Amino acid sequence: MKPTINNLTSSQQREFLKAHFSPFVSDQKKGRSGGPVETPPPAQAERIALPPAKTLTCGQMPVCQAIGRRRSRRKFSKMPLTQEQLAYLCWATLGIQKVFGHGQAVYRTVPSAGARHALQLYLAAGNVDGLAKGLYRYMAVDHELVQLRNDDAMPDNVAKACFDQNWMAGAGAVLILTALPYRMEWRYGPAAAKLIALDAGHAGQNAYLAAESIGAGACAVAAYDQQQADRLLDVDGHDEFVIYLIPVGNV
Ligand SMILES: Cc1cc2nc3c(=O)[nH]c(=O)nc-3n(C[C@H](O)[C@H](O)[C@H](O)COP(=O)(O)O)c2cc1C
Repeated sequence: MKPTINNLTSSQQREFLKAHFSPFVSDQKKGRSGGPVETPPPAQAERIALPPAKTLTCGQMPVCQAIGRRRSRRKFSKMPLTQEQLAYLCWATLGIQKVFGHGQAVYRTVPSAGARHALQLYLAAGNVDGLAKGLYRYMAVDHELVQLRNDDAMPDNVAKACFDQNWMAGAGAVLILTALPYRMEWRYGPAAAKLIALDAGHAGQNAYLAAESIGAGACAVAAYDQQQADRLLDVDGHDEFVIYLIPVGNV
């Protein structure tokens, strides 16, 4: 029988939420490589510069106000996201502040267990100033986008992959987080899955607060069809797969 989570008992399913730090010999201890901090882009992909994080002037709202206003927002205006807004949202969600350890480790705007950061950020652009509809990846080290696919149907197809949550197609962009589990398993083995899910929550909350702080809105989405979403991003569903989607847009 194919192992799926539905075949597990509820006790087994709940194990995922518990801590699993009993002694084991990790791949890190065995001296294996933990891999790069981000997957290199396809060789021919077009790179799109974003306004540098240090020059961004949006997002000046006090944190307490952004927290106080935070709401899941599903109605977006027709006003496109500006490139500055988009740069800010990407940076807030998974931006890199510092590369260290000979390029093998990073600090980001969000915390991560052991600073392993087993997440990557894609972007389904629908209504962004100067950006064709389609699929992009945020290259956090260089704070730029790479264009993966020009695709007018991208916003509708993302909504379809989320069980026809059609309101999503009205977003300026959908931030899509993928998990690359080995980055976390390399150090934490059986504890990794929970840690990755916790990390995704941090990234999601940063996206929410960043959106509020620029007069935009966000709504977390975890109800999606795994295979459809993975196919849409052209990820293999094993070493990399979709874990969370966050539509963002002006409201
Ligand atoms: C992990 C997670 C998954 C969610 N998935 C969806 C979703 O698939 N569709 C949706 O419309 N809202 C989704 N939401 C938003 C919740 O419905 C929302 O947070 C909840 O109704 C409370 O509203 P508030 O965020 O405005 O406080 C999700 C929220 C979280 C944290």
